[in-house]
Amino acid sequence: MYTVTCIAPVNIAVLKYWGKKDEELILPVNDSISATLDTDHLFTKTTVMTSENFKEDRMWLNGQEENMENCRLQRCLTEIRKRAKHSKHLQWKIHICSENNFPTGAGLASSAAGYACLVLALAKLYEIKGELSSIARIGSGSACRSVIGGFVKWSMGSLPDGSDSIAKQIVPASHWPEMRVIILVLDDTRKKVPSSIGMRRSMETSDMLKLRINYVVSDRAKRIERAIIEKDFETFAICTMKDSNQLHAICMDTYPPLFYMNEESRAIVDLVHTYNETVKKVQVAYTFDAGPNAVLYLLEENVPEFLGVLLYAYPEIGKIEYCKGLPRDNILISQELNKAMNIKPHEISPPVRIKCMIHTKLGDGPKYIIQPENHLLNQKGLPINHV
Ligand code: PMV
Repeated sequence: MYTVTCIAPVNIAVLKYWGKKDEELILPVNDSISATLDTDHLFTKTTVMTSENFKEDRMWLNGQEENMENCRLQRCLTEIRKRAKHSKHLQWKIHICSENNFPTGAGLASSAAGYACLVLALAKLYEIKGELSSIARIGSGSACRSVIGGFVKWSMGSLPDGSDSIAKQIVPASHWPEMRVIILVLDDTRKKVPSSIGMRRSMETSDMLKLRINYVVSDRAKRIERAIIEKDFETFAICTMKDSNQLHAICMDTYPPLFYMNEESRAIVDLVHTYNETVKKVQVAYTFDAGPNAVLYLLEENVPEFLGVLLYAYPEIGKIEYCKGLPRDNILISQELNKAMNIKPHEISPPVRIKCMIHTKLGDGPKYIIQPENHLLNQKGLPINHV
């Protein structure tokens, strides 16, 4: 019997992936860039086990047994098994158990962390060496970026077999240790249109997406990459916000349109712009994926002041039960700033209901856990909490 446990991070794109040129191989129409978040606060943990006694492949996700027929999962397994053809125990069945350390369905992209974790755990189990982001990619496109820490670029590649559509690190997390991330979960229900369906619809119907692919994204990728290397927060922030806005404009230009952001998300966008204008400097950037939740990038030195603004604008943040991550004890509420921003708490329309807030930073990427007491499967290959 062999067992491996891995934990893998969530990543949040600053230059978005939206649209595939090959649906089977999951090849994107543009390069994308993301930050890998710290596994201290958000992670998926996966244990894989293989034994000659197992009768069938089985998988448990967040405590529920899942069907192994999922075609993306099967594609990952086939690729892993192809690369592991010399492994002695390849004929044995496998058991997989995976859990997120954030509430299930909290509106946080878990498939990226999930597939990255699965692929890395299986790669170690079968002693597969070499490039692994391309296997994670065929599970979920953005998962290829969760295989690596720091700021990461996923190149679209040009080879028809997709072998050069891989993720590479731009800089490690230690390059910009001051970078902080605040996630505001506004809605914790599952998104109505999954991103794979949404991007297919945009590919088929949006003229604006063609414009983005042909005229915008490659220049923006260069600018944002340079801004990261030079630690130029203002350029980084402007590119990040414009790219998020463009993604959601393309969603509106898709037919029928895709509404991922809601009125509450737009209230956060407004607040960020009002704040930046008031302090006369771009100090906070927002970005939104295929859902209404806001992810904010800002530097450590501005966290106390901006948390003060958030707490003043949305006093209920102070009451929410699920807050996690880095400490929030040095919040600075400045009456002067609030006056200058002209925020009127409780009069913000619509009222923004923040379900949970996570204050975190960039991280070094996935890691393996060696202590057997931390495995999610017991000696019989069943989840430790199995009844
Ligand atoms: O990897 P997917 O299929 O979940 O798509 C992710 C798409 C976005 O999150 C909207 C953008 C991105 O680059 O992560």
